[in-house]
Amino acid sequence: MRLLFIGDVYGAPGIAAVQAYLKRHRDAFDFVVANGENCAGGFGITRSQFRSLRDAGVDVVTLGNHTFDQAETAELLEETPRLVRPLTYPRGTPGVGFVTLPARDGTRVTIGQVMGRIFMDPMDDPFDAADAIVEAAGPNDPVIVEVHAEATSEKRVLTYHLEGRVSAVIGSHTHVQTADEAIHQGTASITDVGMTGVEHSSIGMRFEEVHHRMRTKRPRRFKPATGTATLCAVALTLEGRRAHTIERVRWRAEEAS
Ligand SMILES: [Fe+2]
Repeated sequence: MRLLFIGDVYGAPGIAAVQAYLKRHRDAFDFVVANGENCAGGFGITRSQFRSLRDAGVDVVTLGNHTFDQAETAELLEETPRLVRPLTYPRGTPGVGFVTLPARDGTRVTIGQVMGRIFMDPMDDPFDAADAIVEAAGPNDPVIVEVHAEATSEKRVLTYHLEGRVSAVIGSHTHVQTADEAIHQGTASITDVGMTGVEHSSIGMRFEEVHHRMRTKRPRRFKPATGTATLCAVALTLEGRRAHTIERVRWRAEEAS
């Protein structure tokens, strides 16, 4: 089966890029995942943005450290298992940290997310959480673990921890796609899948305000960058639990016109 994992969708330009890309390529995939925690200008996701991604053909939307930036997300998490937040949140947090759903070809796919602890808010152990995701999946079904984390070393060690036991370990959060995709023991990996947003920006925000803050140490409200987004993703070919191929995708929406 073919699975597409789309990197952090940032603001309206990011959502537009997902819509444009999937309009052309949705039929090439049996299952599509997108990280949507930056849809609301970098701060979480609204109900209507979640709906837009679903309508575009995304099967599961994942979150991260911005999960609860929008007030309505807690309620939305209780309504649908197709919105997945890190399993490493404390016990009793609304929503699910993994979900198993049928792909177009009938395969049952498990998508789970953990968050790292280095340079991030303290959370539960991502290694234990990743093990729990593996244990919950069917014995031969594809399992994708998204590691939403800042530190490359932590993502690499979590990948090592999961090699041979999951189909793919996909890093997210840094918004810059890395060129280290690989397959070991049937597990595909990439340290960071990248951002689906305006590339000429401070990882999604306009430069002007971020530049001001960095140079003066005085606050100024950040604004999301405008313009044409680039979609970053990885395309996976999976058979049972094993990954056969992983290909990076970096697609500029303006190439569509
Ligand atoms: Fe993040």
